[in-house]
Amino acid sequence: MTANSLPAYLFVFGNSPDLAQAELAAVLNRLSSPGKIASFSPPSLVLQADSPLSSQLFELLGGTVKIGEIFDRLPKTDPDELQKNIVQKLILAAKEKQKDKISFGISQIGETPPVNLLSLTKAVKKTLEAAGYKVRFVLPTRGERELTSVVITKEGLDEIILSQSGKEVLLTKTVWVQNFESWNKRDYDRPKVAPHTGMIPPKLARMMVNLALPATSFKPPAVVLDPFCGVGTILAEAMQLGADVIGTDIDPKQVQRTKENLAWLKDQYSLSTKFSAHQSDATQISRKIKQKLTAIVTEPDLGPNDLQIRRYSPESRQTLMEKLTNLYLSGLKDWHHLLPKSGRVGIVLPSFTISKDKELSLVKMVIDKAKIMGYSLSAGPFKYARPQATVRRNICVFESEKR
Ligand SMILES: C[S@@+](CC[C@H](N)C(=O)[O-])C[C@H]1O[C@@H](n2cnc3c(N)ncnc32)[C@H](O)[C@@H]1O
Repeated sequence: MTANSLPAYLFVFGNSPDLAQAELAAVLNRLSSPGKIASFSPPSLVLQADSPLSSQLFELLGGTVKIGEIFDRLPKTDPDELQKNIVQKLILAAKEKQKDKISFGISQIGETPPVNLLSLTKAVKKTLEAAGYKVRFVLPTRGERELTSVVITKEGLDEIILSQSGKEVLLTKTVWVQNFESWNKRDYDRPKVAPHTGMIPPKLARMMVNLALPATSFKPPAVVLDPFCGVGTILAEAMQLGADVIGTDIDPKQVQRTKENLAWLKDQYSLSTKFSAHQSDATQISRKIKQKLTAIVTEPDLGPNDLQIRRYSPESRQTLMEKLTNLYLSGLKDWHHLLPKSGRVGIVLPSFTISKDKELSLVKMVIDKAKIMGYSLSAGPFKYARPQATVRRNICVFESEKR
């Protein structure tokens, strides 16, 4: 950012850019952060801000892997000009840190200018050395064009990102990368897991909570319910965002796992938020829950896993779809009683790939029927799945229209 210009940021998203973009827009909106999305060309987005954004905001996001400040825009790819601007920026960063050593790397993201990364990196190193600095660089792994958050953090790199926005070449310096250690800790170090029921990835859980919290500021703390809580992954992410949480599950063993995981989380992160978990059928909880809720976020029973569904006959697949649709609609009907005005439900709905270009999906049916029940669709459906997966997650956020 130059002294008299406003800061512009490049947000780099993980493997579900549309969902991550919706999450970012929701968080910026809720925090009344002054800024406007200038362009979105997956996997990155340019945000024009009115004032510098805080890294506290960055830490709220589940779908963003890196954020950088755009420091230059070139009208075309000119290797000499690129080299000169990168060198200037790296020297400025070294001076700010009062260091005579520079460790750096250059990444390319999305549609990028045609530039030879190795030659550019070597040329930058040579110029920095000529200016008296001790220099080392790290290149992206062979076949990749981008340095990972892990490499940037572990190697302590200043990363420069080259990307394209319309005809302009953007030069960005990374200012924040996701805390992969903390995400891994919550995923792999928690005391209880239940792979047989399928657990939601924590980053997806975080994005869903961010999308389901109210659109504008609200009276904290939020209270988030997960009526199919499993081992409590969604609730853990809601607690990290400062919400009190309630989990229910039909299986008492899952309820116990949730309790243990959330007690561990509270301890590990010194959280002051409250949690409770109880055994209940998700379709009949409205009479049991006494607290005022802010939002419901959940990943229900999604039916059989990838291996099992492949063995189903067409008839049994159809029966399965009807059974699951009924479960979700019964839940949505019951939860409507619990939601405040404009309260939201973030929910995962499954679809099943049955051949290369055929998908069996209940998503449209659930959305249509939910509308009749008094919900509107406020975001989604967003696909979240590995390309070769048979069972795919579709993320929908409904908003209660009543009261
Ligand atoms: C896909 S898992 C949820 C996983 C959870 N998101 C996690 O990360 O651990 C679905 C959960 O729904 C529970 N379940 C199935 N049918 C239910 C029902 N009718 N009411 C409440 N819970 C139910 C299962 O016991 C299971 O724990």
